[in-house]
Amino acid sequence: MKRTLDTCYYPEHWPRQTWQDDARRMAEVGLTWVRIGEFAWSRLEPNHGSFDWEWLDSAISVLGAAGLKIVLGTPTATPPRWMLTRHPDMLAVDAEGRTRKFGSRRHYCFSHQGYQNECDRIVEVLAQRYGHNPHVAAWQTDNEFGCHSTTISYSAAAAGAFREWLRLEYPGVGNDGAIADLNRAWGNEFWSMDYANFDEIDLPNLTVTAPNPAHQIAFRRFSSDQVVRFNKRQADIIRKYSDAPITHNFMGRAVDFDHFKVGDNLDFASWDSYPLGFLEDRIDASDDHKIAFVRQGDPDFQAFHHDLYRAVGRGRWWVMEQQPGPVNWAAYNPIPLPGMVRLWTWEAFAHGAEAVCYFRWRQVPYAQEQMHAGMLRPDDQEAPAMAEARQVARELGAAPDVDVTRCPVALVFDYDAAQGWDIQPHGRHLDYFSLVFGAYKAMRALGLSVDILPASTGNFAGYRLILVPGLLHMPDDLKSALSDCEGLALIGPRSGARTHDMQIPVPLPPAFQQLNVTVVRVESLRPGVSIRLEKGGAIEGYFEILETDAPVLEATPSGEPVLVGDMSLAYLGGWPDATALTRILQQSCAALGVVTTPMPTGVRVREAGSDRFIFNYNAHAAVLGDLDLAPLSVMRQSPRL
Ligand code: GAL
Repeated sequence: MKRTLDTCYYPEHWPRQTWQDDARRMAEVGLTWVRIGEFAWSRLEPNHGSFDWEWLDSAISVLGAAGLKIVLGTPTATPPRWMLTRHPDMLAVDAEGRTRKFGSRRHYCFSHQGYQNECDRIVEVLAQRYGHNPHVAAWQTDNEFGCHSTTISYSAAAAGAFREWLRLEYPGVGNDGAIADLNRAWGNEFWSMDYANFDEIDLPNLTVTAPNPAHQIAFRRFSSDQVVRFNKRQADIIRKYSDAPITHNFMGRAVDFDHFKVGDNLDFASWDSYPLGFLEDRIDASDDHKIAFVRQGDPDFQAFHHDLYRAVGRGRWWVMEQQPGPVNWAAYNPIPLPGMVRLWTWEAFAHGAEAVCYFRWRQVPYAQEQMHAGMLRPDDQEAPAMAEARQVARELGAAPDVDVTRCPVALVFDYDAAQGWDIQPHGRHLDYFSLVFGAYKAMRALGLSVDILPASTGNFAGYRLILVPGLLHMPDDLKSALSDCEGLALIGPRSGARTHDMQIPVPLPPAFQQLNVTVVRVESLRPGVSIRLEKGGAIEGYFEILETDAPVLEATPSGEPVLVGDMSLAYLGGWPDATALTRILQQSCAALGVVTTPMPTGVRVREAGSDRFIFNYNAHAAVLGDLDLAPLSVMRQSPRL
C-alpha cells in the first residue's frame, strides 16, 4: 500500500486565482489527498434551495488536474444562518437549559427532525453531483461529531425522541406493561420516581440533586444512538451515488458516543491529532510531565488513538487532521520542536495509518482560527512544517511499506463504560479514560505494542494478555469469552460492577464462574491517601475489598487480597499506581512468555511485522539497550533484532 501525505484545504477562503498555484505546490510537495468542503454550506447553498456549484466544480477540477485526489466533506457541521429562520428550534440546548446560539459551528441538535431532513437533502444533492466525479475519491461525513460538547442536547426535540427510544428499549416483559418494565429496571420506587406512562419522562437535567443513574445511562445511550443514526443516514445516501469510501474524522479523548458503532457504517476511520493541544487540555498529568513534553506532546496519547481508531476502522484508518505548528485553542499554544511534525507523521504510519493529512494548507488571517498554523503562513511563505512534510514524502518514497500485524497484548475499550463512570465515578477524578490510558501507558513503557478491542468483539484468539480495566457492565457472553480465551484475561477494577441498568448485580461482582472472587465493599480515596502493596507500589483513588479462596497474586502488607487468580483469569481489586501496575504486567508477561523491555522515559517502540520503529520524544538523546537514539528521532530497524 502507498501511504500518503495530504492536506485540508478551504478553496472558499482564498481568491480563485490562487487555487491553481496552491494545487501545483501541493503536488510538488508530494501530497496526494486534499480534504475540502466540510464547512462550506453557506457558499454551496446561499439561500434555501438555490445552489452555487460553480466554485466547487472548479476547485475540484483544478485540484484534480494537478493530480490530487479529493476527500469531499458533507457540510452539516455548519448549518447556515438561513437554516435557523426555517428551523428556529433546531439549536442544541445545554444541561443548564440554555439554547446554544448561531455564530460558530455544530449548533444543531441531533434529534431535530427538520434539520435531519435538511441534512438528507444537502447530502443527496452533493452525492448526486459528485458521486461519479473522477477526482472525488473519498467522503467525510460532517466534522468531529461531539466536538465542543455537542453530542448531548436537552432540547424539546431530544426529549420527544428520547421517549420514543425508551418505548423501544422497554417494550414490556411482564403482564403489567412497558412502563412497569422501565420502572422496575430503573428502580423507580426509590424516591417516588415511578412513571405512569412514557410521556411523563423528561431529560435528566436540572433535577434538584443527582438524577437516577439508570435514567442517565439511558439518556447517554440514546444520545450516542442519535449520532450513529445521523452518520448512517449520510453514509446510506452517499452510497446510492458513489462507490468511494466514506469516513468520519473523530477526536482525541472523546467518549460521549460509541465510536465503534459509528465506525460500523464507515469504510475507514479517521481522527484529528493535535499532540500539543491535547497535552495541555486533555491529559491528566503532572506539570513536570507537561513541561518536559510541552513541544512534543505526550509520548502515548497519539499512539493510543492510532490503535483505538485502527479498531474503530476495522483495520483501515487515517489521520485526517495533523497539527503542523501551534494551534489556537488550547490553554497554551507552543510551537513544536523542529522534527516533531515528521515524528508524529511516522508514528502514525508505524501504527498503520494509510494517510496523514495536515490541517491546514495555509493559515487563514481572519475569523476564529487565525492563530492556527498551516503548512503555509498567511503571507504564502512556507511554515516550518512544510520542510518536514517534504522530508517524509521523500522518505516514504524510499521506504518499504509498513506491516500491521496482530500484537501479543490487547486492551478492551468501551464507550458505554466511560458513560457509566462519568455518571457514577464514586470519587472525584475517577475517570474511565484515565484508567484505561494508564494501563496502555504502562504496557507501552514495557515496550509492548498493543491492539485495542471493542467489548463486543467476543474474539480474543491469538492474544496472550488481555486487559479489561473498568468495564462496568460485562454481559455473560463476554465473561465466557474471556474465561475461555487462550491468554490471560486480567479483569478489573470495577469490571462487571453494574448491570445494564446501572444496578449492583447480585451475586456480587465480578461473578465469574471460573474464578471465586467477590467484591464485597468498595471505597474511593482522596489524593494523598493510598493503600500500599506488599511487593511495592500502591492502590490509589479506588479500592475494593475482595473475598476469595483463589490464589492471591498481590496483597496489602496485612494480607488483604488485591490481585487474585491464575495465569488464565485474574481479577484486580483497585486502581494501581504505575509502580504496582508495571510489576503486575511484567510478572504476568514473564509467566506468559511475552518479552518486555522497560523503556526510558519518552522512548517508545512499535512492532510492525518484521520491522521495529523506535521513537524518541525527548529533546535529548536517549539510550535503549545498545542503541543510541538522537533527540526527537525516528529509528526503523528492519528486520528488527
Ligand atoms: C479540529 C476541527 C478543525 C479545526 C481544528 C483546529 O477540531 O476539526 O475544523 O477547527 O480542530 O485545530
